[in-house]
Amino acid sequence: MANAPKNNQIDQWRSIMFLYESALKEINTKIEIINNEFVQINNYNPIEHVKSRLKTPESIVKKLKRSGYEATIDNMVDRLNDIAGIRVICSFRPDIYLIADMISRQKDITVLFVKDYISNPKPNGYRSYHMVVTIPVYLSTGPVETKVEIQIRTIAMDFWASLEHKIYYKFEGDAPENLQQELKACADMVDMLDAKMFSLNERILLASGQERTKPDQE
Ligand code: GTP
Ligand code: MG
Repeated sequence: MANAPKNNQIDQWRSIMFLYESALKEINTKIEIINNEFVQINNYNPIEHVKSRLKTPESIVKKLKRSGYEATIDNMVDRLNDIAGIRVICSFRPDIYLIADMISRQKDITVLFVKDYISNPKPNGYRSYHMVVTIPVYLSTGPVETKVEIQIRTIAMDFWASLEHKIYYKFEGDAPENLQQELKACADMVDMLDAKMFSLNERILLASGQERTKPDQE
């Protein structure tokens, strides 16, 4: 049975990817419920949209090798946090912390760690709130805690990050200095825009007699 181990590995790969895919569905549903409940109680939508993705086999192998690990299923499960990834895009900066808080307070979610690149932006200007969590996926054999990376950011931060990502890849991480400086300047503008849009929205709410932080009282 020369190819028996290979088949086992393929089966193992499939069951692992099934777990990550299921974990994404679980988190997606939770986020949808959080948003819908918010709309019901507070009459506003903290979430613009949500995107999720599973890392491709190619980029899993590439990332493991780049980090100096052998491309094995064990390494992938132990070392990589972003095989299942979900991105939550909000309109306003405070919504990010609201969503993050509501996610972390869910009983079956365990927050492994948080990287707050909004309080501490990266030197290139990148802003986003990252959480790596585990969520149980209930199989017939019992629950399996599965890792998911959640990125929460505003529309403006997401706009910036998409362009930065494109430029980073285009220049293989070595973009010309002036381009990097301009990107950093754009990141500062994005930050100002986020602050401005939030305060404008607050004024609109105030003028229309609504307050975003309190539930609607009829
Ligand atoms: P990766 O190995 O790139 O996943 O980073 P990490 O393990 O150090 O974790 P970190 O929380 O810093 O980044 C996780 C993910 O956030 C990345 O895979 C990207 O999707 C995104 N990210 C982090 N830094 C940047 C950045 O400077 N620019 C952009 N566009 N995205 C970033
Ligand atoms: Mg990543």
